[in-house]
Amino acid sequence: MAPREKERRARALREELKEHAYRYYVLDAPTIDDDRYDAMLRELADLEAAYPELRTADSPTQRVGGAPREAFVKVRHAIPMLSLDNVFNDGEVRHFVERVRRELHRDDVVFVCEPKIDGLAVSLLYEDGVFVRGATRGDGTTGEEVTRNLKTLRSLPLSLRTPLSGTLEVRGEVFMTRRDFAALNEAREEREEQPFANPRNAAAGAVRQLDPAITAQRRLQLATYHVVHPEYRGLARQSELLQWLRDAGLPTQGEERCADDVEAVLGYIEEMRGRRFTLPYVTDGVVIKVDALPDWGRLGTTAKSPRWSVAFKYPPEEKRSTVREIFVSVGRTGSLTPVARLEPVHLAGSTVRRASLHNRDELERKDVRIGDTVVVRKAGDIIPEIVCSLSEERKGDEEPFVFPDHCPVCGAEAVRIPGEVAVRCPNRSCPAQLKEGVFHFASRGGMNIIGLGEKIVNQLVEKDMVRDFADLYHLTPEELQGLERMGAVSSEKLVGQIEVSKERSLDHLLYALGIRYVGAKIAATLAGHFRGMEALRGASEEDLLDVEGIGPRIAVSLRAFFEDGQNLQTIRRLKEAGVAMSLPEEHGAEERSLEGMRFVLTGELQSHTRREAQERIEALGGRVIGSVSSRTDYVVAGEKPGSKMTKAQELGVAVLDEQAFLHLLGEA
Ligand code: IVH
Repeated sequence: MAPREKERRARALREELKEHAYRYYVLDAPTIDDDRYDAMLRELADLEAAYPELRTADSPTQRVGGAPREAFVKVRHAIPMLSLDNVFNDGEVRHFVERVRRELHRDDVVFVCEPKIDGLAVSLLYEDGVFVRGATRGDGTTGEEVTRNLKTLRSLPLSLRTPLSGTLEVRGEVFMTRRDFAALNEAREEREEQPFANPRNAAAGAVRQLDPAITAQRRLQLATYHVVHPEYRGLARQSELLQWLRDAGLPTQGEERCADDVEAVLGYIEEMRGRRFTLPYVTDGVVIKVDALPDWGRLGTTAKSPRWSVAFKYPPEEKRSTVREIFVSVGRTGSLTPVARLEPVHLAGSTVRRASLHNRDELERKDVRIGDTVVVRKAGDIIPEIVCSLSEERKGDEEPFVFPDHCPVCGAEAVRIPGEVAVRCPNRSCPAQLKEGVFHFASRGGMNIIGLGEKIVNQLVEKDMVRDFADLYHLTPEELQGLERMGAVSSEKLVGQIEVSKERSLDHLLYALGIRYVGAKIAATLAGHFRGMEALRGASEEDLLDVEGIGPRIAVSLRAFFEDGQNLQTIRRLKEAGVAMSLPEEHGAEERSLEGMRFVLTGELQSHTRREAQERIEALGGRVIGSVSSRTDYVVAGEKPGSKMTKAQELGVAVLDEQAFLHLLGEA
């Protein structure tokens, strides 16, 4: 590509990526899938790597990078970041509305209601439309500078869509969706790390990381709701301001509504009370603001909070239930967890039937007894927990639960390792551990054996058909037909799926083995570094510690795993069964850089015949199709292109000239 064209291509990619981020995060109406977005991002990164002069500060490739830092720098907010006064009931809402009317000497005051997201308040500074500084709220006067961390948020535009000169300070909330929060906690529990109590703590922890690479992994979201000195932007109302933010490319929640009187405000609060559990993020209340911005100045602020806004807080939903039973569940690593089975109650958007009591100490501290009336709540509106037992309601027939000193499943004597809270079953062949282990082995992140669900795993272990993962690879359709609900067809299918899983890559296998502290990410790191089971097995603790991302805890766990005869036997048997134990030689990301992309060829290329071009595209994972549609990723135009080129232009499909095409193939 000629220098001018390279520059043009980089600019086009940047613009397009920005546009797609806007459609995704602000309009909530994406027009391409994640793979396509990632492919464009990769193309831009490749271009910039080859020609660093093409890199710009607002390039989406600049979101992550650079070394972790030593400490945060403090920043003073030019205008303090205030907090809001809380109100808790209708009466207090009415009182607020009346006070505002009285002070403004008007009855026709319009309010805006917005959900209050439970996240971390941040200040975002744009200079001439480019994001230059991000800071946390801190104590309201002084916060911490977290620019690089915030740049990793894909929903944060690195440059605005509307041309703006001078400084713009926007404020908003960084948060995590319920789903990402649940996945994060699951992964943490897998690594035996303390789960976060709520999405706000998780988001705050992620933003306040010295290494932005960790922030990037947490999938944080942004919603903005405030502009400092909005009058300079010609804005007169908060409701207008929210639209202005969206037009500038800044995400907002988009759930705001204007309310003409107090009844409308209360109506919004009532509507949100139930609906908030269906939103993808946790909201703990409603923020009520005076809509007309000039009124903000008239009403003023106290030292702590504005007088033109309050936050209505929903009480954490708590309900009573009865403990029907307490049982102990045995986890994959043998940990014994007491769980209360409850009289079902509807709570914060779902039916709760059980609540974990975490461990023996917690059970004893809360003194929860079978038959007790308990108060149940969802921590962070997500995880059900027992707040307390109502001991005053006991009738005398409630039974204290005696924590077993033996594993309830295999009967082995339970042990408590000094320094750990968990009490464990030490028997590695314990059917409960084996079931969980096999289920994990077959899970999506593991060997991804489709159709091998919990019910089948349970039967396989109970009928002694599987004692070790390798036994799975010797199952026959006839044997499977003996299981409940397994007919001839499903048995054949399952054996087929088990067979296919032999080819899963090494990272999947390492994850599947369930080595302590080795989650999907660590498994991928290890596979990428050692590339084969033998090399990993032979690695000393020092060798392991040399790998970036592997700390002492993981290294010790890996060594212990590979020194255990039973594990070595499982690995040997898996290998004998034909399970792949190493990464193929040519395994590399760029080798299938066109995975899933659709190409249309038109005109004559100098460098390749049409057939050669097609073969090259297919070798890299792409496909060549006959006609252009909105689903086409690229039209490759050689000399004398035909009508396909015009069609591409009409539909806004990217057109590559020969140089750009060669670059994409890695041949230029
Ligand atoms: S307005 C000067 N709007 O709640 C007032 N705050 O308890 C600026 N919050 O510190 C705040 N959603 O972190 C506002 N729609 C919303 C909000 C919101 C969440 C947070 C924010 C603030 C805290 C006050």
